Parts: sequence; C-alpha cells; structure tokens
Amino acid sequence: MLMSLDVHIRSARYSNNNVLKDIDFRLDTGGVLTIVGESGAGKTTLGRIVAGLDKFYKIDFEGYVRSSEKIGYVPQSLSESMDPVFSIEYQMKEIKNNLALLKNTLLDVGLKDVDRILKSYPHNLSGGMKQRALIALALLDSKTVVADEPTSALDKTTQRQIVKLFEDLNKNSGISIIFITHDLDLLKFDSSVIVLYNGLIIEYANSRDLLKNPMHPYTRILINAAPKADMHYDTDRFAVLDNIEQSNDMCPFVNICEKRCDCCYTQFPKLKDVGGRLLRCHV
Ligand SMILES: Nc1ncnc2c1ncn2[C@@H]1O[C@H](COP(=O)(O)OP(=O)(O)O)[C@@H](O)[C@H]1O
Ligand SMILES: [Mg+2]
Repeated sequence: MLMSLDVHIRSARYSNNNVLKDIDFRLDTGGVLTIVGESGAGKTTLGRIVAGLDKFYKIDFEGYVRSSEKIGYVPQSLSESMDPVFSIEYQMKEIKNNLALLKNTLLDVGLKDVDRILKSYPHNLSGGMKQRALIALALLDSKTVVADEPTSALDKTTQRQIVKLFEDLNKNSGISIIFITHDLDLLKFDSSVIVLYNGLIIEYANSRDLLKNPMHPYTRILINAAPKADMHYDTDRFAVLDNIEQSNDMCPFVNICEKRCDCCYTQFPKLKDVGGRLLRCHV
C-alpha cells in the first residue's frame, strides 16, 4: 500500500507548556488510526499538528508531518466550528466552488434533502446533521481526515450513527481516518490504536489485540473506564490515577502496576517493541 502519512513529532508546546513527546506513527492510504486518552493527554494538539493547523493554534513543534495530500480536520467543538451567520452552501463553497461536488459530498455523509441543507444555517440543523455537515466540509478537498472526538456532543444513538458513518467512509470510499476519542467504548473500528498519556505513547497495537489483551496497566484502566452497565468505575478509577508518579526518573505507573520491578523505580520507561506491538514498559 502507498504510504499516505508519516508523522514524527519529537516535542510540541504552547509557549512554555510542553504537551507532546516522541510521537511516531504512519498511516497507510485507506487506513484507520484511533488515538485514545483522557482529557489533557494531548489528543487535540496532535490532531491539529497532523492536520497542518499548528501555526493557527500557535503550537511549536519539532519534527515533521509528511503527507501525500491535504488532510481534513473535523474539530472537537460543534459550536465554534461553523460560522453561524453563513449558510452551509456559502461555507462549503469557500472550500470548493462546485455545486455538484458539494451535493455529492453531503450525500456521502448520509444527508438527504441536500438542497434544503445547502440553504440552511448551522442553527437549522440537528446536532447529528451538523456533525455530518462538518465531516462533509473536511472531506471536500481531502481523502484523509482527522476527526477530533466527533461524537462527544451527541446522544448515544447519534454517536453510533456517526461512528458507523466513519466506518462506511473508510470501507466504501477509501477515506483514511484518524479518529480521536477519550471513550474506548467507541472503538468499534478495526484500526491501529495509540494510547496517549500525558503527551506520550503508552501503548500502540491493533484494536483487536488491544481490547483482548491490553498490556499496559494504564490501557486496562481506560478499558475498564468505558461505561458498562454493572460498573461503578468512576471512584475506583480516580483512586488509581491519584497514584500516578510525576517524576521523570521512574515509571509513572509504578504504584498501580502489579508487575513492577526494581528498574521501574529508577528509570523512565522507553517505548519497546513487544511482538509487533509497542509498549512503554520495563517489564
Ligand atoms: N491553546 C492552548 N494554550 C496552552 N495550553 C494548551 C492549549 N490548548 C491545550 N493546552 C494544554 O495542552 C495539554 C493537552 O491538551 P489537548 O491537546 O487539548 O488534550 P486532549 O485533547 O487530549 O484533551 C493540556 O494540558 C492543555 O491544557
Ligand atoms: Mg481534545
């Protein structure tokens, strides 16, 4: 397969605030990569850099993003991402002034009655329709999109429909996708997954292996934190995260890991290849 995206970020910051460190990945044309992590992990910052929006958001980074084409960006917030005073048609025409293409792209994202939608203003659309219109905007001039928590403003049913839409866009239209989420429960795609913690890759594996056999204790916490009907996860989880070490001279997870050894107390772990998966762990 042709390589469409090659990302190597040694570090990234907003003025003095370091946010990402040593992020390396590739995405083949037609591939899907999911980036998971809690709020503040650096997911949005990574998405912005990959989509070439680093200058716009005043992010300084060392490294490179190499891509064979433009990358579309579906931003995290529905409300700040469309201009309320312009029609959908006007906003789409700013990107591509080709009515047939606009209509086809709206159809591609599962919208019907596209003539009415083009004449609508953002406030005329439901949350799910607005999210679809935003995805259409990102797809107008690229076949690779970064979708930053594209379902977080939506109800559960609409969430599932949007996840399904991304799946269809990938399978049927060959769109390459970087899907950012804090909710591992949304990981229905067959995809590569990067688990991000505090700006670092903690674990990197394909979704099936990761869900079946999460190797890193932090990944297990995230998986257990995904909402399940019979779990009282919140209190347990935060009690665990209170024990994360902030020092650069030991493993952050030394206090919550049942497999720790002496070196976990004296060295920050590097990312290591473990049978084709990557894991930030000494053991
Ligand atoms: N514009 C900004 N200026 C300064 N710090 C920021 C800015 N945006 C995000 N950050 C900080 O960068 C870190 C990562 O944020 P972000 O990439 O939004 O994480 P996530 O999307 O995983 O929640 C956080 O500590 C956040 O406070
Ligand atoms: Mg974010």
